[in-house]
Amino acid sequence: MILKKEEYFMSSIKILENIYWIGVNDKRNILFEGLWPIPYGISYNSYIIKGSEKIALIDTVDKYYEKEFISNIKEIINPQKIEYLILNHLEPDHSGSFEEILRIAPKIKVIGSHLAINIAKKYYKEDFESIIIKDNDTLSLGDKTLKFIEAPWLHWPETIFTYIIEDQILFSGDAFGGFGALNKGIFDEEIDMSFYEKEMKRYFANIVSHYSNFVIKAKEKINSLPIKILCPAHGPIYKKNIEYPISKYLQWCLKDEDKVLIIYGSMYGHINEIVEYLERKLKEKKVKVISYNLSYTHPSYILTDLIDCKIFLLGSPVYEASIFPLIANMIELIKIKHIRPKAFGLLINFTWGESKVSEKIRKELQEIGMNFIEPCLLTKGKITEEDKKSANILIENIIEKLQSL
Ligand code: FEO
Repeated sequence: MILKKEEYFMSSIKILENIYWIGVNDKRNILFEGLWPIPYGISYNSYIIKGSEKIALIDTVDKYYEKEFISNIKEIINPQKIEYLILNHLEPDHSGSFEEILRIAPKIKVIGSHLAINIAKKYYKEDFESIIIKDNDTLSLGDKTLKFIEAPWLHWPETIFTYIIEDQILFSGDAFGGFGALNKGIFDEEIDMSFYEKEMKRYFANIVSHYSNFVIKAKEKINSLPIKILCPAHGPIYKKNIEYPISKYLQWCLKDEDKVLIIYGSMYGHINEIVEYLERKLKEKKVKVISYNLSYTHPSYILTDLIDCKIFLLGSPVYEASIFPLIANMIELIKIKHIRPKAFGLLINFTWGESKVSEKIRKELQEIGMNFIEPCLLTKGKITEEDKKSANILIENIIEKLQSL
């Protein structure tokens, strides 16, 4: 699904009386953080809360969209009347229009954690009025009271949640967010959630999975909080089913599926041959198996399946006496993203020397707690009947391992 330009929202939308979405949809950027493909775009959700006495803004948007952002604010209020800018998260997709807001409303008070205020000074400017908040601090806007909840490392260390006590609305920053620009609606009850679930999982795998423990801690902190509307900083706003994104995030933090992922590179088709054999035989034995050729699939999508599989196989040709570079990059991502310990198998193809590639990969993955499934398939050139016999043993061991995990 490629969205047409005119299908995206670029104006303010009312959430409840005196509470508005004033975010933007980014359909320009190709790679989020310069790394992760966003073919369906991404929304940067910002919110205006009009209390009976004071007005607060929650986060801003990417600097590229500051004109649209300011125009959205002007649809509702005069931006000079904003009293508080609340920094739930300082990554520039949410803080990029910080200086423009301060230029328009120079007396605005900036609210955030101690670290958030420090980062804002380093990223933007030194001289602004600030209020540093601590866990459970409150702020009155008149008929609306904001409560601040420390929720660090979601996904930077300075992050907080903001909660409106009277309306029971939680603004959760990156947590419970997803990729995918908002199209034909911003609320879960009016859009195709099957599309957003896929993009939410990919966002979780690419951006949040490293901080899974902090997702679990943050969830514990909000357990006793009644929530009627959940407003993440990306993706849909949840009115109909608040539990949906929260339970999905927890599932991805904690549970693995009975599936096997085969991630491989292949220069001349030899690894392809053994992958096809393994995939066919595993499927015959009713094992769910998904294979990805790294030359044709971006790691963003592979990580999305890897975070909740029990077993994965890596297939690497020996490349100039080293690990195939795309596989080496994948191993690095597995380490960076703190992929939970799993069991893994290896398929190595070489022509004149194995160059201890299997040993190098085993060492790297075992050092982060992953279990190796024997045998390592060391194949030389095209796949032989002997290789298939070894593959059959590997399949039996994979099935045994799946049953024990
Ligand atoms: Fe959406 Fe971590 O920024």
